[in-house]
Amino acid sequence: MNTTQERIIIFDTTLRDGEQCPGATLNIDEKLTIAKQLARLGVDVIEAGFAFASPGDFEAVTKIAQLVGTQDGPVICSLARARHEDIQTAAEAIKPAAKGRIHTFIATSDIHLKYKLKKTKSEVLAIAEEMVAYAKTFTNDVEFSPEDAGRSEPEFLYQVLERAIAAGATTVNIPDTVGYTTPTEFGALIKGIKENVPNIDQAIISVHGHNDLGLAVANFLEAVKNGARQLECTINGIGERAGNAALEELVMGLHVRRQYFNPFFGRPSDCEESLTNIDTRQIYKTSRLVSNLTGMLVQPNKAIVGANAFAHESGIHQDGVLKNKLTYEIMDAQLVGLTENQIVLGKHSGRNAFRTRLRELGYELTETELNKAFVRFKEVADKKKEISDWDLEAIVIDEIQQA
Ligand code: KIV
Ligand code: ZN
Repeated sequence: MNTTQERIIIFDTTLRDGEQCPGATLNIDEKLTIAKQLARLGVDVIEAGFAFASPGDFEAVTKIAQLVGTQDGPVICSLARARHEDIQTAAEAIKPAAKGRIHTFIATSDIHLKYKLKKTKSEVLAIAEEMVAYAKTFTNDVEFSPEDAGRSEPEFLYQVLERAIAAGATTVNIPDTVGYTTPTEFGALIKGIKENVPNIDQAIISVHGHNDLGLAVANFLEAVKNGARQLECTINGIGERAGNAALEELVMGLHVRRQYFNPFFGRPSDCEESLTNIDTRQIYKTSRLVSNLTGMLVQPNKAIVGANAFAHESGIHQDGVLKNKLTYEIMDAQLVGLTENQIVLGKHSGRNAFRTRLRELGYELTETELNKAFVRFKEVADKKKEISDWDLEAIVIDEIQQA
C-alpha cells in the first residue's frame, strides 16, 4: 500500500455471503477465477468461504489461499462459527495463504439467544472470549462478529466486544444481519461502540450489512463517518435475501464524494488520494464476471454497473451531455472500466479487433486461449448479427474454465 494516509479496508465476501444467495452456487474453478479477479480489483481481504460448511468449501478456501493469497495479495479469510471444530477447519484451510484470517461469530441479540442459541448472555460472553482465544492460537489475524448486532442490546454488545478484543480479536465486525437499522441508528451504534468499549482502539471496527430495506450502503457510509474502517461487501450486492452492501456502490460513493468524506479521515477536503485500494477501472469487468458465473443478472438500473447506469435516453439529457458531460454525469464511465469504443463485432471481424475488444474488457488471453476463443466467436457470429460484450465474456469465461 503506497500511502501514509488512513484508508478503508475493503473486505469482499462475494464468495461466502454472496454465494449464500439462492441459485448462486459456484464450483471451485469458478471461485478461483473470481478470487483472482478480486485480487486484480485490489480488495484487501477475500472471505473465500466457510471451510467447515462442506468439503467443496474447504477445498475452495485452500486453493484460493494457495494461488491468490500471496505475500503481495489479499488476506484470505474463512468464516467459522464460535466452535472448536469450525475454527480448526478454518485454520487448516487458510494455512497456505501468506496472510490468513479466521472470522468467528456468535449471535448477541435477545431474539437469537432465546430461540436459536438457547443460551444466556453470560454463556455467550464466555464462548466469544474462549473461541477468539482459540482462533488466536492459529493466526494473529482474528476477526470477531456479534451476529445480529443491529438488534442487540448496546450494553451487552459493548461487553462482548471488550472481551473479544481482550482475547485477541484484531477486527471487530458489526453486522446488521437482517438489514433492519437505518443510517442514523447504525452511525450511532458505531459511535456508541467507539465511546463505550474501553479497548476499542486495539481493533479495527468493521461493518457488515444486508439490504432488506435497501439501506445497506447508506448505513455503511454513516458508519464510516463514525469510525468504521473496514467494509464487508459483495460484487453487485449479491447475498442472502435482498443481498449485501454492494462493493461498487461503496467504493464509488467514497470516491466521487471524497471531498465530503476526507475530513472524517483527518484529511483536507481537497485531498485527491483515494480512500480505498480499489482499482476502480476493474469494477465493471468484475461485475460482469460475477454475474456470468453466478447467473445473477444485474438489473439495468443498478447503480454503477447496470446497463443504464451511464445511458442517456431523454432528449434533454442527451442534449446536455453532448454539450458538457457534467450536466448529467457525476462520474466518468471510464473510471469504472467502461469504454466509449463503439466498434461492433460480428462475423466479419478479425482476430485483431477481437483481441482488442477483449483487452478493453480486461481479458488478457494466452495465444492458445485466444485461438480457441476466436474459433468459438466465429461460430457464434455466424448465428448472431452482432456480438455483445456479454457474448464475448461468455466465450472467454468458457475458455478460461476449460483451460
Ligand atoms: O449477516 C451476518 O451477520 C453474517 C455474519 C456471519 C458476519 O454474515
Ligand atoms: Zn451476512
